[in-house]
Amino acid sequence: MSTDFTPRPEHKFSFGLWTVGWQGVDPFGVATRAPMDPAHAVEKLAELGAYGVTFHDDDLIPFGASESDRESRIASFRKALDATGLVVPMATTNLFAHPVFKEGALTANDRDIRRFALKKILRNLDLAAELGAKTYVLWGGREGAESAVAKDTRAALDRYKESLDILCAYVREQGYDIRFALEPKPNEPRGDIFLPTIGHAIAFISELEEPDRVGLNPEVGHEQMAGMSVVQGYAQALWHDKLFHIDLNGQNGPRYDQDLRFGNGDVKSAFLLVDLLEHGGYDGPRHFDFKPGRIEDEAGVWESARGCMRNYLIFAEKARAFRADPEVAEARAAARVDQLSEPTLGAGESLADLRAEELDIDAAAARGAGVEKLDQLALDHLFGTR
Ligand code: GCO
Ligand code: MN
Ligand code: MN
Repeated sequence: MSTDFTPRPEHKFSFGLWTVGWQGVDPFGVATRAPMDPAHAVEKLAELGAYGVTFHDDDLIPFGASESDRESRIASFRKALDATGLVVPMATTNLFAHPVFKEGALTANDRDIRRFALKKILRNLDLAAELGAKTYVLWGGREGAESAVAKDTRAALDRYKESLDILCAYVREQGYDIRFALEPKPNEPRGDIFLPTIGHAIAFISELEEPDRVGLNPEVGHEQMAGMSVVQGYAQALWHDKLFHIDLNGQNGPRYDQDLRFGNGDVKSAFLLVDLLEHGGYDGPRHFDFKPGRIEDEAGVWESARGCMRNYLIFAEKARAFRADPEVAEARAAARVDQLSEPTLGAGESLADLRAEELDIDAAAARGAGVEKLDQLALDHLFGTR
């Protein structure tokens, strides 16, 4: 097995400014780390081998900053990008931190707030386009409710759709090469968030005026919070051509959003996810949205960022070796894995042919699935015992 797990720009690893820059503020405690200058984050990420950096408007330009402050912060960020060659593949809007968004942003009951939220997105979209971003993420952290008594879900979805339709038209009119990616999450910070899973989001997209401009940015931990299979969810998004972008991290089952380093949490699921991404046709950024432990200092932050990329490369190598293993090929054949890719009705076959066929039901029912062997081989590859 190759042991060179050094991240390089061609691996397309990217990180949010809010990830490595997270100061450790949680609902129970104040910051444990100093603020991080975005230019410093860019330099360190480049040094570690990442290719991209992503941001919320407020990560770069504090909410309410003056025009001149805004310009100088953007200039400093740009300078760091130019010096390092790091790109900005994605950007997004902070529509959740300021108290003005406490009841929602694009789906707030208060119309004035919805209009302000749209304006905030439009402004950052222009910056995203200037910086060359190809994906614009919408995570609806505050879009939802604790009590359904005061929120008309159908009206909220009308307003969500209205906003997406406006944003798609804007991007088209401006000629921006940008697509939107919705990020599902079941809850937190709201009790129940709209578009809680990949499936809800895909169904919503089909109702939009320009559905081709809108896809998904699923996050590993969010699907696990909802008790869903991450691999199945990402695979279905790929099947719909909707896997525009991804948020990789770790989570231990349905509980608060842990945003652990990628590789922590469900390791087998992470391995199978990397196998899917590497062999299933995803070619976008490998983006990490995690929170370096609140218990770490800055050195620990970079250790965890390094760990995210290293773990991805280890899983990718293991997935390659798993697929190349002749015993795995045999076990896959025994488990009829590839038979599922054969159409159920043969070319030119009629339903009359199908109906005329006699299945030996007892023999078919008696056949074992052969999954245990294949699954153990996967674990042996994962554990490094093969
Ligand atoms: C979360 C979310 C956020 C969003 C990010 C982009 O962990 O709750 O993933 O981190 O991805 O804010 O808008
Ligand atoms: Mn999360
Ligand atoms: Mn995320």
